[in-house]
Amino acid sequence: MSAAGGSPRRDAPLGVFDSGLGGLTVVRALRAALPDEDIVYLGDTARVPYGTKGAGTVTRYALGCAGHLVSKGVKAIVIACNTVSAVAPERLRVELDLPVLGVIEPGARAAAAATRVFKVGVLATAGTIASGAYTRALAACSTRIEAYGQAAPLFVPLAEEGWTEGEVPTLAARRYLEPLAKAGVDVVILGCTHYPLLFDVIEREAKAMIGPNVTILDSASVVAREVASFLRERDLLRERGAEAERDDVARTGRTHLFVTDVPKTFEETAARFLGEHAGAAEQIDL
Ligand code: DGL
Repeated sequence: MSAAGGSPRRDAPLGVFDSGLGGLTVVRALRAALPDEDIVYLGDTARVPYGTKGAGTVTRYALGCAGHLVSKGVKAIVIACNTVSAVAPERLRVELDLPVLGVIEPGARAAAAATRVFKVGVLATAGTIASGAYTRALAACSTRIEAYGQAAPLFVPLAEEGWTEGEVPTLAARRYLEPLAKAGVDVVILGCTHYPLLFDVIEREAKAMIGPNVTILDSASVVAREVASFLRERDLLRERGAEAERDDVARTGRTHLFVTDVPKTFEETAARFLGEHAGAAEQIDL
Protein backbone atom coordinates (compact mmCIF):
# COMPACT_ATOMS: atom_id res chain seq x y z
CA MET A 1 0.00 0.00 0.00
CA SER A 2 1.74 3.18 -1.08
CA ALA A 3 0.80 6.72 -0.26
CA ALA A 4 1.68 10.33 -0.96
CA GLY A 5 2.08 12.45 2.16
CA GLY A 6 0.55 15.78 3.18
CA SER A 7 0.12 17.24 6.67
CA PRO A 8 -2.94 15.39 7.91
CA ARG A 9 -4.32 15.60 11.46
CA ARG A 10 -5.10 12.70 13.79
CA ASP A 11 -8.62 13.78 14.66
CA ALA A 12 -9.71 14.34 11.07
CA PRO A 13 -11.99 11.65 9.62
CA LEU A 14 -10.91 8.89 7.31
CA GLY A 15 -12.42 9.23 3.82
CA VAL A 16 -13.74 6.13 2.05
CA PHE A 17 -15.40 5.98 -1.33
CA ASP A 18 -16.89 3.44 -3.68
CA SER A 19 -18.96 3.32 -6.84
CA GLY A 20 -22.01 2.59 -4.67
CA LEU A 21 -22.99 0.99 -1.39
CA GLY A 22 -20.80 -2.13 -1.74
CA GLY A 23 -17.87 -0.23 -0.21
CA LEU A 24 -19.73 -0.40 3.09
CA THR A 25 -18.23 -3.92 3.40
CA VAL A 26 -14.89 -2.13 3.73
CA VAL A 27 -16.38 0.40 6.19
CA ARG A 28 -17.68 -2.52 8.24
CA ALA A 29 -14.17 -3.98 8.45
CA LEU A 30 -12.64 -0.53 9.15
CA ARG A 31 -15.12 0.09 11.98
CA ALA A 32 -14.17 -3.24 13.54
CA ALA A 33 -10.41 -2.60 13.21
CA LEU A 34 -10.53 1.13 14.01
CA PRO A 35 -13.54 1.71 16.31
CA ASP A 36 -12.47 5.22 17.27
CA GLU A 37 -12.00 6.64 13.78
CA ASP A 38 -14.61 8.95 12.28
CA ILE A 39 -15.38 7.88 8.71
CA VAL A 40 -16.80 9.92 5.86
CA TYR A 41 -18.15 7.56 3.20
CA LEU A 42 -19.21 8.51 -0.31
CA GLY A 43 -21.08 6.06 -2.54
CA ASP A 44 -21.48 7.20 -6.13
CA THR A 45 -24.88 5.51 -6.35
CA ALA A 46 -25.96 7.68 -9.30
CA ARG A 47 -23.23 6.22 -11.51
CA VAL A 48 -22.77 2.66 -10.19
CA PRO A 49 -21.61 0.27 -11.64
CA TYR A 50 -18.02 1.28 -12.43
CA GLY A 51 -16.95 -2.30 -13.17
CA THR A 52 -18.39 -2.26 -16.68
CA LYS A 53 -16.96 1.16 -17.63
CA GLY A 54 -13.66 2.17 -19.22
CA ALA A 55 -10.60 3.22 -17.21
CA GLY A 56 -10.82 6.88 -18.32
CA THR A 57 -14.43 7.22 -17.16
CA VAL A 58 -13.76 5.46 -13.86
CA THR A 59 -10.74 7.72 -13.21
CA ARG A 60 -12.82 10.84 -13.91
CA TYR A 61 -15.57 9.67 -11.54
CA ALA A 62 -12.97 8.74 -8.90
CA LEU A 63 -11.42 12.22 -9.03
CA GLY A 64 -14.88 13.71 -8.37
CA CYS A 65 -15.50 11.40 -5.40
CA ALA A 66 -12.06 12.03 -3.90
CA GLY A 67 -12.51 15.79 -4.33
CA HIS A 68 -15.68 15.66 -2.25
CA LEU A 69 -13.91 13.76 0.54
CA VAL A 70 -11.04 16.26 0.50
CA SER A 71 -13.59 19.06 0.92
CA LYS A 72 -14.72 17.28 4.13
CA GLY A 73 -11.20 17.56 5.57
CA VAL A 74 -10.28 13.86 5.58
CA LYS A 75 -6.76 12.86 6.68
CA ALA A 76 -6.44 9.96 4.21
CA ILE A 77 -8.56 8.30 1.55
CA VAL A 78 -9.32 4.58 1.33
CA ILE A 79 -10.50 3.55 -2.13
CA ALA A 80 -12.96 0.79 -1.21
CA CYS A 81 -13.74 0.07 -4.86
CA ASN A 82 -11.54 -2.57 -6.49
CA THR A 83 -12.25 -1.20 -9.96
CA VAL A 84 -11.05 2.30 -8.96
CA SER A 85 -8.10 0.79 -7.05
CA ALA A 86 -7.21 -1.09 -10.24
CA VAL A 87 -7.19 1.85 -12.64
CA ALA A 88 -6.97 5.19 -10.81
CA PRO A 89 -4.83 5.23 -7.62
CA GLU A 90 -1.70 6.72 -9.22
CA ARG A 91 -3.69 9.57 -10.75
CA LEU A 92 -5.38 10.25 -7.40
CA ARG A 93 -2.00 10.26 -5.64
CA VAL A 94 -0.68 12.79 -8.15
CA GLU A 95 -3.73 15.03 -7.84
CA LEU A 96 -4.32 14.87 -4.07
CA ASP A 97 -2.09 16.12 -1.29
CA LEU A 98 -2.90 13.33 1.18
CA PRO A 99 -2.40 9.57 1.53
CA VAL A 100 -4.46 7.42 -0.85
CA LEU A 101 -4.80 3.72 0.01
CA GLY A 102 -6.17 1.13 -2.40
CA VAL A 103 -7.47 -2.40 -1.89
CA ILE A 104 -5.54 -4.39 -4.53
CA GLU A 105 -2.09 -4.67 -2.95
CA PRO A 106 -3.29 -5.74 0.53
CA GLY A 107 -5.42 -8.50 -1.04
CA ALA A 108 -2.54 -9.61 -3.27
CA ARG A 109 -0.12 -9.71 -0.32
CA ALA A 110 -2.50 -11.83 1.75
CA ALA A 111 -3.04 -14.20 -1.20
CA ALA A 112 0.70 -14.50 -1.83
CA ALA A 113 1.20 -15.42 1.82
CA ALA A 114 -1.59 -18.01 1.68
CA THR A 115 -0.87 -19.88 -1.57
CA ARG A 116 1.09 -23.14 -1.34
CA VAL A 117 0.97 -23.97 -5.06
CA PHE A 118 1.71 -20.43 -6.33
CA LYS A 119 -1.52 -20.29 -8.30
CA VAL A 120 -4.01 -17.62 -7.26
CA GLY A 121 -7.49 -17.01 -8.66
CA VAL A 122 -9.10 -13.58 -8.72
CA LEU A 123 -12.85 -12.98 -8.99
CA ALA A 124 -13.56 -9.33 -9.82
CA THR A 125 -15.43 -6.98 -12.15
CA ALA A 126 -14.64 -6.97 -15.88
CA GLY A 127 -12.83 -3.63 -15.45
CA THR A 128 -10.59 -4.91 -12.65
CA ILE A 129 -9.73 -8.11 -14.52
CA ALA A 130 -9.05 -6.22 -17.77
CA SER A 131 -6.68 -3.81 -15.97
CA GLY A 132 -4.36 -6.68 -14.94
CA ALA A 133 -3.87 -4.90 -11.60
CA TYR A 134 -4.10 -8.07 -9.46
CA THR A 135 -1.74 -9.92 -11.79
CA ARG A 136 0.84 -7.12 -11.40
CA ALA A 137 0.34 -6.88 -7.64
CA LEU A 138 0.75 -10.66 -7.24
CA ALA A 139 3.84 -10.65 -9.45
CA ALA A 140 5.29 -7.90 -7.25
CA CYS A 141 4.87 -10.26 -4.25
CA SER A 142 6.47 -13.27 -5.95
CA THR A 143 7.49 -13.90 -9.55
CA ARG A 144 6.58 -17.57 -8.98
CA ILE A 145 2.88 -16.78 -8.66
CA GLU A 146 0.58 -17.36 -11.61
CA ALA A 147 -2.62 -15.30 -11.46
CA TYR A 148 -5.90 -16.43 -12.99
CA GLY A 149 -8.51 -13.70 -13.34
CA GLN A 150 -12.21 -14.35 -13.82
CA ALA A 151 -14.79 -11.59 -14.25
CA ALA A 152 -17.86 -12.37 -12.15
CA PRO A 153 -20.33 -9.63 -13.12
CA LEU A 154 -23.51 -11.40 -11.93
CA PHE A 155 -22.30 -11.37 -8.33
CA VAL A 156 -22.80 -7.58 -8.11
CA PRO A 157 -26.59 -7.52 -8.74
CA LEU A 158 -27.05 -10.72 -6.71
CA ALA A 159 -25.38 -9.09 -3.69
CA GLU A 160 -27.40 -5.89 -4.19
CA GLU A 161 -30.61 -7.92 -4.29
CA GLY A 162 -29.63 -9.88 -1.21
CA TRP A 163 -29.88 -13.02 -3.34
CA THR A 164 -26.93 -14.71 -1.69
CA GLU A 165 -28.15 -18.29 -1.28
CA GLY A 166 -30.00 -20.82 -3.42
CA GLU A 167 -29.86 -22.08 -6.97
CA VAL A 168 -29.02 -18.87 -8.84
CA PRO A 169 -25.95 -17.77 -6.84
CA THR A 170 -24.81 -21.40 -6.64
CA LEU A 171 -24.93 -21.81 -10.43
CA ALA A 172 -23.18 -18.45 -10.93
CA ALA A 173 -20.46 -19.43 -8.45
CA ARG A 174 -19.92 -22.77 -10.22
CA ARG A 175 -19.65 -21.06 -13.58
CA TYR A 176 -17.11 -18.49 -12.35
CA LEU A 177 -15.07 -20.96 -10.32
CA GLU A 178 -14.78 -23.53 -13.10
CA PRO A 179 -11.75 -21.98 -14.90
CA LEU A 180 -10.05 -21.35 -11.56
CA ALA A 181 -10.59 -24.98 -10.51
CA LYS A 182 -9.19 -26.15 -13.88
CA ALA A 183 -6.12 -23.98 -13.36
CA GLY A 184 -5.53 -25.61 -9.96
CA VAL A 185 -5.50 -22.47 -7.80
CA ASP A 186 -5.52 -22.89 -4.01
CA VAL A 187 -6.46 -19.28 -3.15
CA VAL A 188 -9.34 -17.24 -4.56
CA ILE A 189 -9.34 -13.48 -3.95
CA LEU A 190 -12.77 -11.85 -3.73
CA GLY A 191 -11.63 -8.76 -5.65
CA CYS A 192 -14.84 -6.73 -5.48
CA THR A 193 -16.68 -4.85 -2.74
CA HIS A 194 -19.84 -6.90 -3.26
CA TYR A 195 -18.50 -10.44 -3.25
CA PRO A 196 -18.02 -10.84 0.54
CA LEU A 197 -21.83 -11.04 0.76
CA LEU A 198 -21.62 -14.23 -1.31
CA PHE A 199 -18.73 -15.62 0.75
CA ASP A 200 -20.62 -18.69 2.00
CA VAL A 201 -21.85 -19.85 -1.39
CA ILE A 202 -18.49 -19.18 -3.07
CA GLU A 203 -16.60 -20.99 -0.32
CA ARG A 204 -18.94 -23.98 -0.36
CA GLU A 205 -18.71 -24.39 -4.16
CA ALA A 206 -14.95 -23.77 -4.17
CA LYS A 207 -14.41 -26.47 -1.57
CA ALA A 208 -16.49 -28.88 -3.66
CA MET A 209 -14.77 -28.00 -6.95
CA ILE A 210 -11.19 -27.25 -5.87
CA GLY A 211 -10.77 -29.06 -2.57
CA PRO A 212 -11.35 -28.60 1.15
CA ASN A 213 -8.14 -26.62 1.69
CA VAL A 214 -8.92 -23.79 -0.74
CA THR A 215 -8.66 -20.30 0.81
CA ILE A 216 -11.31 -17.73 -0.07
CA LEU A 217 -9.87 -14.34 0.67
CA ASP A 218 -12.20 -11.50 1.63
CA SER A 219 -9.86 -8.55 1.22
CA ALA A 220 -11.99 -6.12 3.32
CA SER A 221 -10.56 -7.30 6.64
CA VAL A 222 -7.01 -7.44 5.23
CA VAL A 223 -7.41 -3.87 3.95
CA ALA A 224 -8.70 -2.69 7.34
CA ARG A 225 -5.69 -4.21 9.10
CA GLU A 226 -3.29 -2.52 6.65
CA VAL A 227 -5.07 0.84 7.01
CA ALA A 228 -4.76 0.50 10.81
CA SER A 229 -1.01 -0.14 10.62
CA PHE A 230 -0.59 2.67 8.08
CA LEU A 231 -2.27 5.17 10.43
CA ARG A 232 -0.37 3.85 13.46
CA GLU A 233 3.02 4.05 11.71
CA ARG A 234 2.37 7.65 10.70
CA ASP A 235 0.97 8.67 14.08
CA LEU A 236 -2.40 9.39 12.48
CA LEU A 237 -4.63 7.24 14.71
CA ARG A 238 -7.46 9.11 16.41
CA GLU A 239 -7.08 8.73 20.16
CA ARG A 240 -9.80 7.22 22.29
CA GLY A 241 -11.09 9.87 24.71
CA ALA A 242 -10.60 9.39 28.48
CA GLU A 243 -14.40 9.21 28.97
CA ALA A 244 -14.77 6.40 26.42
CA GLU A 245 -11.89 4.61 28.14
CA ARG A 246 -13.50 5.02 31.57
CA ASP A 247 -16.98 3.96 30.38
CA ASP A 248 -15.56 1.14 28.25
CA VAL A 249 -17.44 2.37 25.16
CA ALA A 250 -17.08 -0.11 22.28
CA ARG A 251 -16.91 2.46 19.48
CA THR A 252 -16.50 6.24 19.59
CA GLY A 253 -16.05 6.81 15.85
CA ARG A 254 -18.99 8.10 13.83
CA THR A 255 -19.76 7.38 10.20
CA HIS A 256 -21.18 10.05 7.91
CA LEU A 257 -22.68 8.74 4.68
CA PHE A 258 -22.93 10.64 1.40
CA VAL A 259 -24.53 9.28 -1.77
CA THR A 260 -25.05 10.79 -5.22
CA ASP A 261 -28.53 9.25 -5.47
CA VAL A 262 -30.78 7.74 -2.82
CA PRO A 263 -31.81 4.32 -4.11
CA LYS A 264 -35.34 3.22 -3.11
CA THR A 265 -33.92 0.31 -1.16
CA PHE A 266 -31.14 2.39 0.41
CA GLU A 267 -31.76 1.40 4.06
CA GLU A 268 -32.04 -2.31 3.36
CA THR A 269 -29.10 -2.47 0.92
CA ALA A 270 -26.81 -0.32 3.08
CA ALA A 271 -27.57 -2.44 6.16
CA ARG A 272 -26.79 -5.61 4.21
CA PHE A 273 -23.31 -4.36 3.28
CA LEU A 274 -22.59 -2.66 6.61
CA GLY A 275 -23.91 -5.53 8.72
CA GLU A 276 -25.99 -3.15 10.85
CA HIS A 277 -28.40 -0.23 10.49
CA ALA A 278 -26.64 2.43 8.43
CA GLY A 279 -28.51 5.60 9.44
CA ALA A 280 -29.45 8.35 7.01
CA ALA A 281 -27.35 9.39 4.02
CA GLU A 282 -26.94 12.89 2.66
CA GLN A 283 -27.41 13.25 -1.09
CA ILE A 284 -24.87 15.34 -2.98
CA ASP A 285 -24.19 16.27 -6.61
CA LEU A 286 -20.74 15.68 -8.01
N1 DGL B 1 -17.30 -1.40 -6.29
C1 DGL B 1 -17.02 -2.22 -7.44
C2 DGL B 1 -15.71 -2.99 -7.22
O1 DGL B 1 -15.31 -3.26 -6.10
C3 DGL B 1 -18.15 -3.18 -7.75
C4 DGL B 1 -19.43 -2.51 -8.24
C5 DGL B 1 -19.23 -1.75 -9.53
O2 DGL B 1 -19.07 -2.37 -10.60
O3 DGL B 1 -19.23 -0.52 -9.47
O4 DGL B 1 -15.05 -3.31 -8.16
